[in-house]
Amino acid sequence: MIKILVIHGPNLNLLGKREPEIYGKVTIGQINKKLKDIAKKKKVALEIFQSNHEGEIVDKIGKAKNKYSALLINPAAYTHTSVAIRDAISATDIPAVEVHLSNIYAREDFRHNSLIASVAKGQISGFGMDSYIYGLDAAINLSA
Ligand code: DQA
Repeated sequence: MIKILVIHGPNLNLLGKREPEIYGKVTIGQINKKLKDIAKKKKVALEIFQSNHEGEIVDKIGKAKNKYSALLINPAAYTHTSVAIRDAISATDIPAVEVHLSNIYAREDFRHNSLIASVAKGQISGFGMDSYIYGLDAAINLSA
């Protein structure tokens, strides 16, 4: 069975309350439920992990080999800063799909650079919760 690892990075646990004018009112619980519903319909297994800590995310990716067929990740602020998460993705042979709720290229300059993009299969940015839905679709196709 295809098994996909979903990783939410820092502050995404605050979705719904956090800058709703940028991220919308959707909560992480609602996103996870939607992803689980889609996965169930498509007969795909999902594991979902959220952390505000870079090292925990690095550890999770480091242990992912042979366990998952694809990685769906919103690295949040670590997108723009984390060589460690970039290297962890690069070190694993699992294809990664990078997603963002907001369009990072339409925001502050420091968000225009993603350290993750060059080691991801592709990036989806700017569609709110739908970024995750499109991303899950891409991750399933990469697993097949
Ligand atoms: C984000 C965009 C990042 O720049 C930001 O730091 C986040 C969320 C997004 O989903 O739009 O925390 O990854």
